[in-house]
Amino acid sequence: MLLTRLKRNLCRKHLHTYIFSGSLLLFLTVALINVITECNINNINETPNRVCMASYYMTLILTASGEKNCTRIIRGDDNEIRKALLNNLIVKNRKVCASPKEYLDATKDCKAFRKKRKYIEFSLSKEEVDFPIAYSMVIHDNVEMFERLLRAIYAPHNIYCIHMDKKSPESFQEAVRAITSCFHNVFVASKLENVVYASWSRVQADLNCMKNLLQSKVEWKYLINTCGTDFPLKTNAEIVSTLKSLNGKNSMESESPPSFKKRRWGYHYVVKPDTNYIARTDIKKEPPPVPVPIFSGSAYIVVTVEFVKALFENPIAKQFIQWAKDTYSPDEYLWATLNRVAVMPGYLPAHLKYDISDINAIARLVKWQSLEGELKNGAPYKQCTGTHRREVCIYGTGDLNWMLQQHHLFANKFDPHVDDNVIQCLEEYLRYKAFHPLVDLF
Ligand SMILES: *[C@@H]1O[C@H](CO)[C@@H](O)[C@H](O)[C@H]1NC(C)=O
Repeated sequence: MLLTRLKRNLCRKHLHTYIFSGSLLLFLTVALINVITECNINNINETPNRVCMASYYMTLILTASGEKNCTRIIRGDDNEIRKALLNNLIVKNRKVCASPKEYLDATKDCKAFRKKRKYIEFSLSKEEVDFPIAYSMVIHDNVEMFERLLRAIYAPHNIYCIHMDKKSPESFQEAVRAITSCFHNVFVASKLENVVYASWSRVQADLNCMKNLLQSKVEWKYLINTCGTDFPLKTNAEIVSTLKSLNGKNSMESESPPSFKKRRWGYHYVVKPDTNYIARTDIKKEPPPVPVPIFSGSAYIVVTVEFVKALFENPIAKQFIQWAKDTYSPDEYLWATLNRVAVMPGYLPAHLKYDISDINAIARLVKWQSLEGELKNGAPYKQCTGTHRREVCIYGTGDLNWMLQQHHLFANKFDPHVDDNVIQCLEEYLRYKAFHPLVDLF
């Protein structure tokens, strides 16, 4: 009696197991067929569906090297951060960047290069396709960092103009050209400048790219300019949604200048031929031909396509550009001032109430050494965990948790020789986020 019941129970139990494993097998087969027939990463015509996204992520995953756990670092885990910072100090772990020669070789087979470097060669959403972004990238050294930055911001429907310094080494220029030749939407500016620190040439480099970008067939909506020490903090989808929320306004630092800066546009400056230095003369300059005072800001901006067009078409913009050519560091006031002139699309009124600091603009997150301190004492941010260059923090692993909670699209500065762990974790994070837009990692 007991035995038969036991037997029957056992059978029923087995029956459940059979049904369960049967349906599991069926489900897996269907999923597999789905993956094989529909999730073909080499043949994506539309934006992928959710099932495929998971399978593509497994192919395109970027994982930081070594033993660090980026999830913990991003969450601000002190132990994990301390370990990673110590790791930076160990000489044998010092980062050696890939050389121009290595990139020249790797790009001989473009398809293999894009695959090996795990570029996302398809658009991840329709919102992104409908909102193309133009990038002006002004670089002068370290081909590996240029390529990692490009990979981090790359989307096939965007458009990228690269300006490399005319005086940068031939090998570097060749490698950059080789990389750009592997993408239909990445090109080198048609005119290259010899970029002299703090001189007009820095602005001209961006203008050369802007002109070329306006000539492109891509109907981009906003322009973002970057340099070789920038890295994004947001995915392309997040950048698109932030730009949309600007409602046609530009976003950049633009404030009343401190008085010590006024001599920068009060005198005529010259770059002596065959030197790479800018020097002040005693010749005073006429007042600027704009109906507003000069505002100071940053070389890094987020502007609409209409703003960029106006730079080449609007008489006031053109005169101001002409006037600014012999001043000191015009990149740090030209955009900031034009953005306060009422004829410029996307501008903000020149009134003090519209002043925007670098922290409140979304263009670039920078930690200024002189402003670092204790939050409880009113400082805007904590101590830099990397090092400083020209009074700006080169980020360390301990800055990542804070950085990712800011609204800025990009941060500056990064240097793999100072801290490559922070860049690797950022790469891992952004790639995860691109494929899991709804997951909160914090
Ligand atoms: C990294 O840390 C997270 C959070 O503590 C943990 O869930 C995850 O498993 C860890 N990853 C690895 C590879 O150890």
